[in-house]
Parts: sequence; C-alpha cells; structure tokens
Amino acid sequence: MTHRILILGGTTEARQLAGKLAARADIALTLSLAGRTENPVAHGVPTRVGGFGGADGLAAYLRKTRIEVLVDATHPYAAKISANAAAAADEAGVPIVALRRPGWDPAEGDRWTLVDSVAGAVTALAAAPRRVFLALGRQEVAAFEAAPQHHYLIRSVDPVEPRLAVPAAAYLLARGPFREADERALLLEHRIDVVVSKNSGGEATYGKIAAARALGIEVVMIRRPTLPDVASAETVEALAAMVDHFLGPAAERGV
Ligand SMILES: NC(=O)c1ccc[n+]([C@@H]2O[C@H](COP(=O)([O-])OP(=O)(O)OC[C@H]3O[C@@H](n4cnc5c(N)ncnc54)[C@H](OP(=O)(O)O)[C@@H]3O)[C@@H](O)[C@H]2O)c1
Repeated sequence: MTHRILILGGTTEARQLAGKLAARADIALTLSLAGRTENPVAHGVPTRVGGFGGADGLAAYLRKTRIEVLVDATHPYAAKISANAAAAADEAGVPIVALRRPGWDPAEGDRWTLVDSVAGAVTALAAAPRRVFLALGRQEVAAFEAAPQHHYLIRSVDPVEPRLAVPAAAYLLARGPFREADERALLLEHRIDVVVSKNSGGEATYGKIAAARALGIEVVMIRRPTLPDVASAETVEALAAMVDHFLGPAAERGV
C-alpha cells in the first residue's frame, strides 16, 4: 500500500526529509514550494510550485490528492503557511507534523537587540548613520528604505529588484551555508557595525552571528513569529520517525 505525503518545503530540512522518504517504496511524496526562489536547488522528488489559495485551498488540495500525512517543514518565519497548514489539516481531517527547528540562544559576548518585526529592526538602527549588514530575504529589505541614512550591505539568493531607493547599498548574491571565518572577513571588509538577522536556528547561517560576537558587533535580532501548536520534531530524523508513526502499523519500515 502506498501512502501519500505532502511536504510543505522551502528549507534545507524539507529537502533532506524529501530525499529520505523518496527512497521508500511505500510512500508517494509531493514536495511543495512557494515559488519565491527563481532557481531552487534541485530536489529530485515530485515537486509542485505556488500557493494553494489559503487554508481552504490547501484543505481542498489535501482532500483531492488524498494526502494521509501533511508535513510542515517550512521556515520558522513563514508563519502564514504554517497557520494555513494547521487549519487545513484540521479542516480536512489529515494528521499534521511540523519541523520546529530550535532558535539560537544568545551566548556570552553576544550583543543582541531584540525586535518583533522588520519594521522594528529599521527603528532599532536609530538616527545616526551606520554600516548595516542585512541578512534577510529580498522581500524584507525594502522596509529599510525608510532609513536611507545608513549604508547597507544586502545579501540574498536572488537579485533584489528593484534596488533599494537609498544612496548607499552594496549587493551580494550568495546561497548558504556560510562559514564563520568567511562571515568575519565579510564584516571586516565592509566595515559593518550592525547585523540585522532573523533567529533562524541551525548551523547553515549561524556563522554571521558567531562572527559578530567575535568582532563585538551588535546584532538586531528579529524575534520569531508565533506558530501553531501541532505535533512537531526538531530534527529531520525525528520528523521522519513521526511520519512513520502517523502512517500506522501497516507501513513497511526500513524499505
Ligand atoms: N520567511 C523566511 O524567512 C524564509 C526563509 C527561507 C525559506 N523560506 C521559504 O520560503 C517560502 C515562502 O516563505 P514566506 O515567509 O513568504 O511564507 P508565508 O508568508 O508563510 O506564506 C505566504 C503564502 O505563500 C504560499 N506558500 C508559502 N510556502 C509555501 C509552500 N511551501 N508551498 C506552497 N505555497 C506556499 C502560501 O500561499 P497560499 O495562501 O496561496 O497557499 C502562503 O499563504 C516558504 O516555503 C518558506 O519555507 C522562507
């Protein structure tokens, strides 16, 4: 018997989980991407791209494609799709499991200023001109046009188009993971005095946080959004085990 699973992705962990489950003969997998990235990393599993049309649209999709387990492996800041996933699973009567990657905790020497939103980060930079490293998605950086007095270094996976309407901004295209030593060199090269970051958790993007700590640089850290309270795991392995659990005793294991 083949079990139908939908993974809401857009993260490294979603790709890893998809790779793990795709190897199993008893699972028919679909990975869903929002379509934000122009050239997403090849996943090697059946993939659909684009929104579902809200929670109702996702619930209809779950019913139509007879999904047995919904996996929310989206990014911790993708709060809307996670809320939609929980509501849709409830509406369609489909079990849901979510990846909840733990956030970073401040360590000795960290100089974090906590804010609730991107707009809060703009305000936290204050009036005096600073040299700011924006390690945020390209959708979010536009908010910094409200503070044109700063010099910005903006790193993104896809080009920021249109460019920011500020007098001083440099652009870098790169996809993680990023090593601490390289991040340190980048912060020094651009004479950065403040980093704006999400608390993404995980290793791949922690380098800039460790580098800022080593250099005594402030980090304006945007707090995590609240996510729905559903069954969850912190790692890909634990998530795969939960999927197995939901498929029930009939599932063939270790295929
Ligand atoms: N936010 C971040 O910092 C961040 C960082 C790295 C990766 N990502 C990934 O980028 C994607 C978009 O993030 P976001 O913050 O813009 O999301 P979001 O604000 O939570 O979601 C906005 C809308 O995008 C659609 N959507 C989001 N993820 C989807 C998915 N995996 N499959 C199909 N539709 C999806 C949904 O549209 P409908 O309502 O029409 O269904 C959703 O309502 C997510 O897949 C996330 O995992 C986000």
